[in-house]
Amino acid sequence: MIRTADLTTTRAPFIERARERGELFIRQPYEQYSDENQETWRRLYDRIEPKWRKYANARFLEGLDLLALDPKRIPHLEDINRFLEPLSGFQAKPVSGYVPAYLFFDCLRQREFPTTITIRDAGHLDYLPEPDIFHDLAGHVPMHTDARFADVLVRFGEVAQAAARKARSIEDEHERLHTVESMVKAMARFFWFTIEFGLMRDDRRPGGIAVYGSGLLSSNGEIEHAIESPRVQRYPLQLEWVVNQCFEIDHYQPLLFVVDSFDHLFGEVNRLADWILEGRVGNVSPGEPAVDEADLKSFLEAA
Ligand SMILES: [Fe+2]
Repeated sequence: MIRTADLTTTRAPFIERARERGELFIRQPYEQYSDENQETWRRLYDRIEPKWRKYANARFLEGLDLLALDPKRIPHLEDINRFLEPLSGFQAKPVSGYVPAYLFFDCLRQREFPTTITIRDAGHLDYLPEPDIFHDLAGHVPMHTDARFADVLVRFGEVAQAAARKARSIEDEHERLHTVESMVKAMARFFWFTIEFGLMRDDRRPGGIAVYGSGLLSSNGEIEHAIESPRVQRYPLQLEWVVNQCFEIDHYQPLLFVVDSFDHLFGEVNRLADWILEGRVGNVSPGEPAVDEADLKSFLEAA
């Protein structure tokens, strides 16, 4: 069978060309979505929608309505942004792939959310290690309609700035590298256990807990597992634990953290900023996630 160009994750010629040219910020070439790509969106949306109604936090459900997210068609980012921007100032910004850590956080600071435009292969609906448009747009962006949640993301960007400043203040090169690696690890862990896999107290939901983390909100299997399974440990968020806690991305999470509210979460991000400036996360527990060269460089070179 001859395959026409489409926007399937890992084999999209448009994305490959953008990467070859070194273009990170791109447009969404909407006409290139194939019928199969559109069908994948429909199937993903249809099967997870009842679980959102059951497990997602109320602000996410409101966000779906506020953005008029279409269950039947992959959204145009421009349409989403027209609804989103007046609510929180945020915009979904199309990217060709991985955004180095500092640049990613700095986009958040400027109320831009780097958004993948490709969609997963129709044969692999359940698990993919890299983000796709269903994860980014259906999992993350509805949360960005909430002004307080949006402030949390902006604060993450400011935390990254604080980390870059802290790094510049360290004269010894070896010590500076080690400290940056540790601070990036701490930030990645905090982001993972909140923005990607966070739970929130909610008396109206099963077990008194609702999902707000986007990794869960875009996973048909794990959203239910996170709330219902006895194989998951759920503990109140503790900053000193989270920044030292390893995680692995290739299986359901055995450990999740619960916040009281987005105000609570905002306060914890503030504490992380303080801890960075005080040098308290300059030598966190080693282990996952690995911080790669590009991430380190992005922090060290931050102007
Ligand atoms: Fe994500």
